[in-house]
Amino acid sequence: MEEKIVGGKIEVQDLKHTFRLGKLDVPVLHGVDFTIRPGDFTALCGASGSGKSTLLNLIGGLTKPTEGLIRIDGQEISAMNENELCLFRRENIGFVFQSYNLMPYLTALENVELSLIFGEVKEEGRREMAMEMLEKVGLADRMDHKPNELSGGQQQRVSVARALVTKPKVVLADEPTGNLDSQTGEEILALLSELNREQKSSFLIVTHDPRIAEVCDHTIFLEDGLVVNQWREHHAH
Ligand SMILES: Nc1ncnc2c1ncn2[C@@H]1O[C@H](COP(=O)(O)OP(=O)(O)O)[C@@H](O)[C@H]1O
Ligand SMILES: [Mg+2]
Repeated sequence: MEEKIVGGKIEVQDLKHTFRLGKLDVPVLHGVDFTIRPGDFTALCGASGSGKSTLLNLIGGLTKPTEGLIRIDGQEISAMNENELCLFRRENIGFVFQSYNLMPYLTALENVELSLIFGEVKEEGRREMAMEMLEKVGLADRMDHKPNELSGGQQQRVSVARALVTKPKVVLADEPTGNLDSQTGEEILALLSELNREQKSSFLIVTHDPRIAEVCDHTIFLEDGLVVNQWREHHAH
């Protein structure tokens, strides 16, 4: 029987971030506030340079915020040290990147298995879970292919499988369709939306793609480091 996964609530309060480049301060986020409900499929929209990737990296615990609070599933990640963050990321966050970021010398199957290597699942169990996840993303017949033997869309499917196989509370995707043609991009968005409904992780997806609005529960608009607008769909979950 499939285990029911409940996504993590994401709380962001008065979040500020400034990059320091030598003596130069680059303020990027100026006090961002929002809440994402557990299991929501949320789009993060905004012009290039508005701070979307910075925000995603803060929520994913890849960057420490200058100021403000980030809580995921009740845990305050803005207060964690590097070791705690590393552990938290592994157990709770799945990342999907625009450029896939797969290991080039590993097969699709090995790339997905790698995600599970730090967890508690033993080797045979890992293989089985990875195979099942690759089947789910439609790559049953491509498990032994290396990334350069796959199309862009297929590579992104592998990276989606890699992000979701650990059943993370939160899935963060930074322009996951940015390198794909519109048809393939649409298929990836449909896949993400389907996995959100099935697996119940909370999804936060950075995108320029207006079509994503059709499948989202919640859309957040960022402009120059501030949330300028957001709206929620009122359909039942
Ligand atoms: N590591 C960094 N060091 C300095 N400035 C950065 C760094 N990362 C991003 N920035 C700056 O922060 C701003 C927002 O960048 P980013 O979050 O990547 O925007 P978006 O993803 O919305 O295009 C940009 O002006 C960018 O130059
Ligand atoms: Mg970006």
